[in-house]
Amino acid sequence: MSGLCSDCLDLTDVQDAEKLFKEQVSAGLSSSPKTLPSRFFYDEIGSRLFQQITRLPEYYLTACELEILRRSGGDIISLVPRRKFNLVELGSGDGTKVIQLLEPGLADNRQFTYLPIDQSVSAMQTLTSDLSERYPELEVRGIVAEYGAGLEWIRRHLKGPVVLLFLGSNLGNFPGNEAEAFLQRLRYTLAPEDFLVIGLDLYKDPEIMNRAYNDSHGVTAQFNLNLLRRINRELRGNFDLEEFRHYSTFNPSTGGVESYLLSASKQSVLIRDLNRTFEFDRREPIHTEHSHKYTEDEIRCLANRAGFEMEANLYDSRSYFVDSVWRVPAS
Ligand SMILES: C[S@@+](CC[C@H](N)C(=O)[O-])C[C@H]1O[C@@H](n2cnc3c(N)ncnc32)[C@H](O)[C@@H]1O
Repeated sequence: MSGLCSDCLDLTDVQDAEKLFKEQVSAGLSSSPKTLPSRFFYDEIGSRLFQQITRLPEYYLTACELEILRRSGGDIISLVPRRKFNLVELGSGDGTKVIQLLEPGLADNRQFTYLPIDQSVSAMQTLTSDLSERYPELEVRGIVAEYGAGLEWIRRHLKGPVVLLFLGSNLGNFPGNEAEAFLQRLRYTLAPEDFLVIGLDLYKDPEIMNRAYNDSHGVTAQFNLNLLRRINRELRGNFDLEEFRHYSTFNPSTGGVESYLLSASKQSVLIRDLNRTFEFDRREPIHTEHSHKYTEDEIRCLANRAGFEMEANLYDSRSYFVDSVWRVPAS
């Protein structure tokens, strides 16, 4: 694939990916209430919009996690006693944060391979070309894959200690019981004494969280609406983007920021590749994202239930965000 590094692997089956998108859009818009899975935000335009979101002053999550990793990236690398190891990152996006671990690792002459895993070809192209230009000595093996396929490849092929990064509170997008099952899957992929570094957004004043998902420049609104633009382009839909409105709010009952697209009027939308028309009432929501906000007790409980030992909790100066370091117990 042009632009991907020569050592990159593309595990996606384009036909399967198209089929899955079609099936999930059809099922989601047929359900009541209507839903669309948040993992479909990240086409090329969505990945670019997400990069812009991370630079918004209201979106504290990225700034907080960067502060933690700037301070503690070297300490995380030092956790691995062996010289040689693998640094794997799930949902790596543009990789801005990982640099805080790569630089101390390279400065310390550690022998490691960085293996980012992301479903987004465009995000992987940007990441691998930026890194090889900036750090020609770094060994990078990008994996374009859905989390499950990427993890299976890691389990089968990697030898030696692993530090697995799952940053950006990506876990918070999984529905409740799926988050726990996913952590168990991570535990199964790793070997005794491997590490998982998991970035989680903490439960805080709802006003702060609401501002983060309702920025004054409307970038988050564009990011959310891009899902409809993607359906129009890839499945020949006729969503009128002017007729849907971004709405995000923290819900104390679910413990997450819930994002929706609200239909501005009673309307019908045709998706030609599904051969179906979907009816919308005025103000009817499509639920597009759950972004969970964690309490300390929840985090402890998640680590225990998935079979990890909690090694450390690293906070930013405002304690808005935590990078929790978990170890797989020695067998
Ligand atoms: C919220 S962004 C976070 C990026 C980065 N980790 C950060 O902290 O800024 C989520 C990234 O995970 C990827 N992603 C989301 N769901 C995925 C899935 N099921 N399989 C593979 N990648 C996924 C997206 O393509 C996107 O690049």
